Amino acid sequence: MTCAAVLVAAGSGSRLGADVPKAFVPLAGRTLLEHAVARFVSHPDVDRVVVVAPADRVDDAARLAGVPAVAGGDTRQRSVGAGLAAVGDARLVLVHDVARAFVPTAVIAAVVAALRAGAVAAIPVLAVHDTIRRVDAAGELVEVVDRASLVAVQTPQGFRRDVLAAAHEAGRGRSATDDAALVEALGHTVVAVPGAEEAFKITRPWDLAVAEAVAARVHP
Ligand code: C5P
Repeated sequence: MTCAAVLVAAGSGSRLGADVPKAFVPLAGRTLLEHAVARFVSHPDVDRVVVVAPADRVDDAARLAGVPAVAGGDTRQRSVGAGLAAVGDARLVLVHDVARAFVPTAVIAAVVAALRAGAVAAIPVLAVHDTIRRVDAAGELVEVVDRASLVAVQTPQGFRRDVLAAAHEAGRGRSATDDAALVEALGHTVVAVPGAEEAFKITRPWDLAVAEAVAARVHP
């Protein structure tokens, strides 16, 4: 079963406060894009990788990544759609946020294994350790949500390509923060596999400091 990975990197990364788009921020001598791509191109379960880059940086991204790159859109959903259109006839597709540059190879393997075992969609999840509260529109505290019933969702999210393509088609005009929600809206079951702390999303300056420490451990 051919498996393609779509690595979305077309976000501006404005919350990171860097002067280049997030994927191009250097960390331990390589850009976040290169750190993320390395995990997929060398993975035994992944046959092909496509990067989705900011429209004005497609050539740069292809050169750095060493794989084909296409232009993203103004939302993550549109960027995933652009990548999906470029993966060819792969039977399975992994969608991964380049912002999760240090995802362990074991997480990628677990997602692919779930798909090969027959799941239509598989996502890595992690238990939530903070106490979580709901707030109202004014920011006033409402109630504590039982954290035992919550998980944080990571990427790569894996899908049968035909199902993900149909979900994106049906989800045009709706906004979803991940692809599994679009697939679920079509009535499909999404299965969970264990995520990992290292797959955290690099979003704010603090995350970059943590990523620096992770990179030093991975590439000492
Ligand atoms: O903004 P958010 O944290 O949801 O971004 C998650 C991932 O989606 C990042 O890797 C970012 O580069 C990507 N993205 C994209 N195109 C957009 C917005 C985000 O490829 N328009």
